[in-house]
Amino acid sequence: MLEKSNESLPLPSSQPYHSYRNKASTKYPKILLGILFLLATVINFSPSFSLNNIKQYGGYVSFVDDENWIDRFEQDDLENWSKCPKQPKPLYPNTIWNLTDKEKSKVISTYQKAVQIPTESFDDNGEADEDPRWKPFFQFQNWLKNTFPLAHATANIEYINTLGILATFEGSDPSLKPLLLMSHYDVVPAPKDTFDRWTYPPFSGYNDETYIWGRGAADDKPLLIAQWEAITNLLENGFKPRRTIILSHGHDEEEVFARRGQGQIAPFLEKRYGKNGLLMVIDEGSGTTDDFYGTPFAIAGMGEKGYMDIVISVATAGGHSSVPPAHSGIGIMSQIVTALEDNPFPTKLTPASPLLTSLQCASEYSSNLPSKYSKLLKKEGPKSYPKLANLISKESLKEKAMVGTTAAVDVIQGGLKVNALPELVNTLINFRIDFTESINSTQTHVNALISKIAKKNTLNYYGFQNENITSLADNEDKYVKVDLLGLPLEPAPRTPQSGGIWELFAGTVKAAIPGPNGTERIVTPYMSTGNTDCKMYYNLTKNVYRFMGSPTEGSFNAHTVDEKFSIDGYLQIIKWIHAIIQNSDAYTGEE
Ligand SMILES: *[C@@H]1O[C@H](CO)[C@@H](O)[C@H](O)[C@H]1NC(C)=O
Ligand SMILES: *[C@@H]1O[C@H](CO)[C@@H](O)[C@H](O)[C@H]1NC(C)=O
Ligand SMILES: *[C@@H]1O[C@H](CO)[C@@H](O)[C@H](O)[C@H]1NC(C)=O
Ligand SMILES: *[C@@H]1O[C@H](CO)[C@@H](O)[C@H](O)[C@H]1NC(C)=O
Ligand SMILES: *[C@@H]1O[C@H](CO)[C@@H](O)[C@H](O)[C@H]1NC(C)=O
Ligand SMILES: *[C@@H]1O[C@H](CO)[C@@H](O)[C@H](O)[C@H]1NC(C)=O
Ligand SMILES: [Zn+2]
Repeated sequence: MLEKSNESLPLPSSQPYHSYRNKASTKYPKILLGILFLLATVINFSPSFSLNNIKQYGGYVSFVDDENWIDRFEQDDLENWSKCPKQPKPLYPNTIWNLTDKEKSKVISTYQKAVQIPTESFDDNGEADEDPRWKPFFQFQNWLKNTFPLAHATANIEYINTLGILATFEGSDPSLKPLLLMSHYDVVPAPKDTFDRWTYPPFSGYNDETYIWGRGAADDKPLLIAQWEAITNLLENGFKPRRTIILSHGHDEEEVFARRGQGQIAPFLEKRYGKNGLLMVIDEGSGTTDDFYGTPFAIAGMGEKGYMDIVISVATAGGHSSVPPAHSGIGIMSQIVTALEDNPFPTKLTPASPLLTSLQCASEYSSNLPSKYSKLLKKEGPKSYPKLANLISKESLKEKAMVGTTAAVDVIQGGLKVNALPELVNTLINFRIDFTESINSTQTHVNALISKIAKKNTLNYYGFQNENITSLADNEDKYVKVDLLGLPLEPAPRTPQSGGIWELFAGTVKAAIPGPNGTERIVTPYMSTGNTDCKMYYNLTKNVYRFMGSPTEGSFNAHTVDEKFSIDGYLQIIKWIHAIIQNSDAYTGEE
């Protein structure tokens, strides 16, 4: 998330600045918006894009700036997203669960036990009934069943594709769309050779009275256990759902292509409930911070960048290294990698990005938004967006990744012997696609760059043609070829930031998780640069919230050594889930 800055504080502005609200009501609003954004992006190529680069690679490299991106959005949406959403009133649930000390130690020890079961998922896992590495997952299912007997007896429990866990608490009114709460029970592996670097063993679930330590202690077991604790407490107190409540747990979220867990559960639920058949989906993601530019906020993941992996292959004639060509396959691949890194995607900030919306909220409500941001927003409205994008991109790599498509060159393979020329060189690249871009525009950019280099080296170029590498190599041993690796993912559809379900969500956050001294939190849309399992649910509802409900400051080292999670944060998740279940049950608004 955005770091706070030490800049002097301008007064928080109480007026939103969206100068194109007026333009939108003119005769050709879309065209005006289009021109505006076009200008905004055209003048905003990142600094490393230089004429030198263009010349070096032989001619004009077209930046694909997807000029038509604006047509993919509704003008009303873009207008709304350029403002901080209207803040609803806090929505108090029937009961707020204030855990007694005894209850606290019970739910904490349950959470520790969940961390102690080593549900590591590996990219090369085999079938559930064959690969012994799935054994802890069966153990986890049994443990869950024995630990939450009332909830298991009440719900209809289905094990989808053997290891996916689906618990349906049937509501009395089948006409109401179900609420679905997600979390995953697999964890990133903790390799044996890292054990000595952990302060406490990764599957100890060690409790130091402030944090629970271990692999999965942050990602994602506190959320999963909090969901079961909250529903159990409600059932124990006689809660009988009117609206169906579903707990849904995948077992391969951490795998690269994650198709076995939620990849099976979501289509199964789509058959059961139909398109748009769910009220709302809440998954892991961001949470609360008491210092969003100086002010208590809840930052809800309401958008997510897209995803694409590619493999680039350069096939050249092999031969003896005593008679090398000017550029071997590795040399040509080096040109390609350099071209990609030297010609990055443009830096962009537009209303399509929830980051912009969050800055508008900060501008409206935060005490401490750096004046360089707030002045720009205030004075220049939409014209300031490209400048803001540039400022943000210079803050840190993390923030830079929030304002444009990124490309990471992650794997390169080629060559076997020092006295033989390489015949085939492969490189794997990972893209995270900006909200204004698309799979198509990313591919167009890749094609534009790489085809030039292929031509310069007199190699044929095949871009995203799904040719069979093996058969191609049989007929033709010199080429440059780019293929998709796995399934790419478009940027996520934006979660609506107005209407009854937004009010239900944001109002419940305000009631269940007040700021320090009982102040009211501002709830803002926010973005995620990674993807979670909720990507499987876009057919089932547009109301997808990536929101864990705990303080973002209380989660450490997910995916690496010394993962730990604040106990207070965990207790906060329980309260939040407890509240959103009740409020969703009582909700009578538009579905
Ligand atoms: C835009 O926001 C307003 C009020 O906040 C809402 O009434 C309207 O439906 C929204 N438009 C869209 C397209 O969501
Ligand atoms: C829990 O605490 C809150 C705030 O102190 C209070 O308003 C609420 O009534 C308490 N809930 C119960 C069930 O006692
Ligand atoms: C992108 O979309 C356009 C228009 O539909 C199409 O002509 C073009 O081939 C696509 N490009 C890629 C790389 O798929
Ligand atoms: C690719 O071609 C090889 C050899 O012609 C064949 O064995 C293989 O099944 C093909 N793969 C695909 C995905 O078409
Ligand atoms: C909360 O209230 C206490 C006592 O009035 C005060 O000292 C403290 O600074 C307040 N904290 C915040 C974050 O406002
Ligand atoms: C969503 O629906 C489309 C069209 O029916 C289908 O092709 C796609 O596979 C579905 N997505 C998921 C994740 O199930
Ligand atoms: Zn996770």
